[in-house]
Amino acid sequence: MINREMTRDEISYKEAGKFEETRCEKIHNVIFDSSVEASILVAREIANLIQTKEELNEPCVLGLATGSSPIKVYEELVRMHYEEKLSFKNVVTFNLDEYYPMDKENIQSYFHFMHDHLFNYVDILPENINIPDGGASSQELLQYCIDYEMKIKSYGGLDFQLLGIGRTGHIGFNEPGSHINSGTRSITLDHITRIDAASSFLGIDNVPRKAITMGIGTVRRAKRIVLLAWGISKAEIVKDTIEGEKSSQVPATYLQEHNNTTFILDRDASSELTRVKTPWLVKSCFWSDDLKLKAVVWLSELTKKPILKLTDKDYNNNGMSGLLAEVGIAYHLNIKMFNKLQHSITGWPGGKPDSEDTNRPERSLPAKKRIIIFSPHPDDDVISMGGTFDRLVEHGHEVHVAYQTSGNLAVSNEECLKFAEVSEILNPASTSSSTIIQFSKNKSKNDIDPVEVRKLKGGIRRSESLGATRYLGLPDENVHFLDLPFYETGTVKKGKLTDTDIKIMCDLIEDIKPHQIYAAGDLADPHGTHKVCLDSLFESLKQLKSKKFMDDCWVWLYRGAWHEWESWQIEMAVPMSPDQVLKKRHAIFYHQSQKDGVMFQGDDSREFWVRAEDRNRATAIKYNDLGLAEYAAIEAFKRYFF
Ligand code: F6R
Repeated sequence: MINREMTRDEISYKEAGKFEETRCEKIHNVIFDSSVEASILVAREIANLIQTKEELNEPCVLGLATGSSPIKVYEELVRMHYEEKLSFKNVVTFNLDEYYPMDKENIQSYFHFMHDHLFNYVDILPENINIPDGGASSQELLQYCIDYEMKIKSYGGLDFQLLGIGRTGHIGFNEPGSHINSGTRSITLDHITRIDAASSFLGIDNVPRKAITMGIGTVRRAKRIVLLAWGISKAEIVKDTIEGEKSSQVPATYLQEHNNTTFILDRDASSELTRVKTPWLVKSCFWSDDLKLKAVVWLSELTKKPILKLTDKDYNNNGMSGLLAEVGIAYHLNIKMFNKLQHSITGWPGGKPDSEDTNRPERSLPAKKRIIIFSPHPDDDVISMGGTFDRLVEHGHEVHVAYQTSGNLAVSNEECLKFAEVSEILNPASTSSSTIIQFSKNKSKNDIDPVEVRKLKGGIRRSESLGATRYLGLPDENVHFLDLPFYETGTVKKGKLTDTDIKIMCDLIEDIKPHQIYAAGDLADPHGTHKVCLDSLFESLKQLKSKKFMDDCWVWLYRGAWHEWESWQIEMAVPMSPDQVLKKRHAIFYHQSQKDGVMFQGDDSREFWVRAEDRNRATAIKYNDLGLAEYAAIEAFKRYFF
């Protein structure tokens, strides 16, 4: 419970997002349906502050963050500068941190990030920009940090501090162990932080081990603090920070002591908060069928009892007396929820021909369906739904796979060199092979892959994909490589989705007129490609919605490479036999460039086939623990209504 009056700044978000105070919350927080809508409001708060200060003829001192969280806020500020004449002439900025050592010119530097996302596009005076200098010599570093701190003080402190949060609970780069009163200093980065940064640096080995960061004390002296957190990967740390005890092990918990802080969250980032995850524990609920299922699954997991064995006492003893009072007898509810889960299981993901389908996840007609499996990278199809893919082909449906991006960025230099050398043996006169060989041998950190290199890397992934789809029995003409242009920047930072991307998607859907679409609803992908690919599908569905054939098109979302649906969210569970598990493994093996320590591993060091098997096995075990039949593995899907 936030034990104080809310400030005017905090209250201002109440209308727009979802604000509720329960006894668990120690930091004011507001939940938004989308991070875009939330970022626009935060940008508006900053713009209002700049303008108020301008009217008072005072500088507006902003503490700024880098990373993926504030990008949309900066984009909106730039828009306001161009379209609403928002001026930054009275703005002084202090950035939270910078890697150390780090060259300003390096595209991975926060210096580069800030100019690329904000400073190059607004009228801020260059002398008013302060970013810790990653080029300071080690001898001068201590004094440099003291001076940085003093400079903030000389302006009367920060008027506003924008923050993201790391999975370690860091704010700035104040890693676990940081002192509540710490000032600007150099710090050694936590291993988890380096893992999270690995994708921007094309591998963890390139991530600096140190950084310069403002301290917790520096941040806490800001008059107003807004922390942004988006996505499922932040859910645990957001809960620990908002509901946990104050501790140097989760430095962000020190914000509990600040009296004008707001956490701005999207739905996924808020999903572990008690009031979101188990609302029945903190308030009276309106019991929809979905909430009932969620609560019953939770109770079954908590008590380690199958659903059909849950008693009235289990409900009462575990904070669910409200639900019990509503339904009367636990057993009736147990049976209803058990049946709901039971009906999600099907060995016929394309629908079972000639059978009654009222309680099946898919329609039986048409018996032979046209199907598109959208795969963001060339391997997500088999990693996430290889077993279902196999079933659909085996059951005679017309299956198409569409690889949305070329995935060239995830092919290592060594792999590329290997193929270029083989190609040179076959054709010694080839200039492109020798160009690729030269480039790959001499590539340095800042070099962006030239077109030939990207082409070869993309080609490697194409041919691996064809290996896998042929193995699953798909004719080559049913495999579509879309190479969506938003991906083709040669760097981790992708372009924006444009009409060209959407047109490519729409053309394919219109051409095939599918009865089923499968797509990755896997939003924890560390650098966002899955999210953009899903957005491209949602936009395409919106544009095609009025076409007749779309009335007959159902969309199923899979997950798998990074995380899995919760049991209560699953609407179609496709069981696999041990033989099918092996077949799926084999299909994943065709993606050789993604084996043995891939470039974009995320925080999970297991290979993709191991992760996939572990997840599918875990889903099967969860179903079994809930009292359903015991299978070797299960692939899970949730329907998307458009
Ligand atoms: C960045 C910074 C960090 C990030 C945090 C979250 O200047 O200080 O604390 O805010 O690591 O990063 P993203 O936003 O990329 O998830």
